[in-house]
Amino acid sequence: MQITFFNAKKYDQESFDEVNQDFGHELRFLEVPLDPHTAVLAQGAEAVCVFVNDTVSAEVLALLATAGVKLLALRCAGYNNVDLKAAAAHGIVVVRVPAYSPHAVAEHTLALILTLNRKTHRAYNRIREGNFALTGLLGFDLYGRTVGLVGLGKIGLITARILRGFGCRVLAYDVQPSAEAEALGVELTGLDQLYAESDIVSLHCPLTPETHHLINAEAIAKMKPGVMLINTSRGAIIDTKAVIKGLKSEKIKYLGLDVYEEEGDLFFEDLSNKVIQDEVFMRLLAFNNVLITGHQAFFTTDAMHNIAQITLQNISDFEQQKELVNAVEA
Ligand SMILES: NC(=O)c1ccc[n+]([C@@H]2O[C@H](COP(=O)([O-])OP(=O)(O)OC[C@H]3O[C@@H](n4cnc5c(N)ncnc54)[C@H](O)[C@@H]3O)[C@@H](O)[C@H]2O)c1
Repeated sequence: MQITFFNAKKYDQESFDEVNQDFGHELRFLEVPLDPHTAVLAQGAEAVCVFVNDTVSAEVLALLATAGVKLLALRCAGYNNVDLKAAAAHGIVVVRVPAYSPHAVAEHTLALILTLNRKTHRAYNRIREGNFALTGLLGFDLYGRTVGLVGLGKIGLITARILRGFGCRVLAYDVQPSAEAEALGVELTGLDQLYAESDIVSLHCPLTPETHHLINAEAIAKMKPGVMLINTSRGAIIDTKAVIKGLKSEKIKYLGLDVYEEEGDLFFEDLSNKVIQDEVFMRLLAFNNVLITGHQAFFTTDAMHNIAQITLQNISDFEQQKELVNAVEA
């Protein structure tokens, strides 16, 4: 099947070309993101393959349908950027990669926690400059601390398992019951209790209308003074302006982000020669207790291989009219 990839980077092309040797699809890689101006470039392809920050609005879906597209293959888990009702209305089937390596994201969550706590990023620079002073590098033992996970799905559960290995008390809030929580020694709680008791709050729920700005001024007010807040899920779960206030008042003592609500204009591109116009983002960068990575939690060789494998399998299943186990419906 002919597949047009939007927002394709060199690393996407490498992993998809390699895995496609077993599938034999016709792959066309475009560097431009999918949006109302670029949708026309899908002309001739039956499938388009997109990533987290591509715009898949009703307008774009109408243009894709006119171009002859029948399948939208997301090479990611989240689908908050897709208007699923419009896709159905245009007869475009949507598939995704529900899990490619929840370990990659859970392990990156720990990388953020450990870096913020033990300040290895600052130590690295200091030592290279011959500064061996310890002032400003004071951390705390993770052992015995309480970590609250919002969302106990695939990534939340692995994060919980790792944290239990560190000897943390793990609380979790999820809208679904969890069969695994008890065996892992995770205490299921309400959100208020989680906020009140957690030294670290880490977000692992999807972005939905219910979770949009879940972490707002009201939620922050309920948290422990000096809390560490980690978001490797989706940027808009956090009200960034409220979090900046929390950082200024020192209610939030550490912030680790792999995602940002306006990341679509920034992440995945080299902007080092440009002036960044986003003042909220620049304010975040001014805090020395804020650590931001650019949506790289998923980015491991294992995950990239799995993403390509599952995406191309989804497309082959569609082509061969097999059951679509990874279909997403409105
Ligand atoms: N940073 C990255 O590179 C990266 C990579 C993959 C996934 N993610 C994000 O991580 C999220 C979690 O991924 P996953 O694979 O664990 O998904 P999952 O579907 O396995 O788990 C999500 C969990 O959140 C729960 N949930 C839903 N609404 C909730 C709410 N209002 N409050 C609390 N919990 C709620 C669900 O019941 C589910 O248990 C994804 O939605 C995606 O946004 C980020």
